[in-house]
Amino acid sequence: MAAEQNAQSLDSAFYQSADTFFSSQAGTALTYDDLTLATLYSEILPRNASLDTELADGLTLHIPMVSADMDTVTESRMAIGMALNGGLGLIHYNMADKQQLKEVSRVKNHIHGLIQEPITVAPDQSVGEVLERIDAKSYSFSTFPVVGDDQKLVGLLSGNVIKPRYASKKITDALVPRDQVQTIQEKELGADPITIADQFFTEHPGINKLLVVDAEDRLRGLFTLSDIERITLEKQAQFRPARDDQFRLLCGAAVSTPRTPDGTLDRERIETHVGGLVERGADVVAVSTAHGHTKGVGEAVELIRNAYPDLHITAGNVTTAEGVEFLADKGANIIKIGQGPGSICTTRLVAGVGIPQMTALYVASRVAEAKGVSLLADGGITKSGDIVKALTLANGVICGGLLAGCPEAPGKVMEISGKLYKQYRGMGSLEAMKAGSAARYGHAAKDAGRKVAAEGIEALKEVSDNLDHLLAQLIGGIQAGMGYLGAPSLPELRKRARYIRVSPAGQREAAPHDVIEMKASQ
Ligand code: XMP
Repeated sequence: MAAEQNAQSLDSAFYQSADTFFSSQAGTALTYDDLTLATLYSEILPRNASLDTELADGLTLHIPMVSADMDTVTESRMAIGMALNGGLGLIHYNMADKQQLKEVSRVKNHIHGLIQEPITVAPDQSVGEVLERIDAKSYSFSTFPVVGDDQKLVGLLSGNVIKPRYASKKITDALVPRDQVQTIQEKELGADPITIADQFFTEHPGINKLLVVDAEDRLRGLFTLSDIERITLEKQAQFRPARDDQFRLLCGAAVSTPRTPDGTLDRERIETHVGGLVERGADVVAVSTAHGHTKGVGEAVELIRNAYPDLHITAGNVTTAEGVEFLADKGANIIKIGQGPGSICTTRLVAGVGIPQMTALYVASRVAEAKGVSLLADGGITKSGDIVKALTLANGVICGGLLAGCPEAPGKVMEISGKLYKQYRGMGSLEAMKAGSAARYGHAAKDAGRKVAAEGIEALKEVSDNLDHLLAQLIGGIQAGMGYLGAPSLPELRKRARYIRVSPAGQREAAPHDVIEMKASQ
């Protein structure tokens, strides 16, 4: 009898742990809106909840969010924004291999304190030539080290003289001479170059460039005050950028599983391209397909694992325990869960296949724990509450549609009836498959758009706030959820979560109702 039960057993009869809850629901596939989380006694303030998540040994994000490897979501600009906010971007592969390598380099070379290969000018060039170069390359800076043929430092061309009035002047006559340029020897930088540079700028007011030279006075790098200040500020921020051990931003890249004309996996192309990605510093590669529990995907993962034993490999997508086990055994250490939940996906309609996310995540999570792999909940996330629910079973989430309206996503803004939109399309849509993603859906590139059934649509997203603001809102929501559950960290959230099903009336109750909304929250 309820009245005779103590408070704790009453709660646990209704609000159940993952194992009890999902086992009791076996046979019904549930997604985010089908359930809700119960509150628990809490001593933590939401803003103090840590969002660090370890996706693999040595791969820690400071927010558990990954931008989808889709051609309307993640190129270098989005990946830089995600990493600066503590997350990760997976660069899509609907582009030439060479282009994808460049995109990864852009992320890895983005402000990492020391600019190792600064753009230089030669003493015999004119200021006019430098002006033309700045214009042609759209450089956002105008101070250049001046070096001779032997890379030896000759001086510094200051932004103050990069003006049309000095266009005909030779750089030799306009530069700050070598003996007045502030430099530091490479060997003096030690293990913490940022602190050394920070000290230098504090001791030299008014100086905002510090050049690094070697023993022969050859240029080896450049520090700028603004980069150092930004990095120093970042160190104090709650959500630090996600960086590698060389202080470069983290970056992931999707790799496809191309086949040779005889239908076998194109091992040489995969190995060469992954080698290029590793060389450029990619921290993780994602073998992204619609069906990860297949011979081809298994072979591709195994091939990459054997060739690069230390590389982090994400693979998917799967929604079964056996699928997780299979990919883990082939060598993947981060598994993507999601078949058909995406906002532009039609797999469930076209193929009649796929599992709603919470059930798929629960099933996957029990094997993932045993196999020592982590999980990314991929697709179907429309609000921060979904992320909190996903994180009770997964280590991070992958978002496509939620980020596709940001200015950081690729693609032009278009205006329709006074509203601004950006294109967002499924990688299984006909147009995306023609652009390269056919293999992801098990089709040959030449067949894309002909005899294949598309599993995604082309759509529009209303232009949204910039990524920093959007992520701040989502992070606030995740921390609020953790506060309600008294969870100071994500592992603690996973331990504490208790679930209950929600009726259709309960779902209506969850959203604003019976009012006239004046301003939707962003
Ligand atoms: P959201 O809901 O965040 O989902 O927009 C993004 C995820 O959807 C997957 N994806 C697709 N799934 N057909 C599908 O069935 C498609 O054309 C398609 N394109 C992307 C992918 O996992 C992505 O991360």
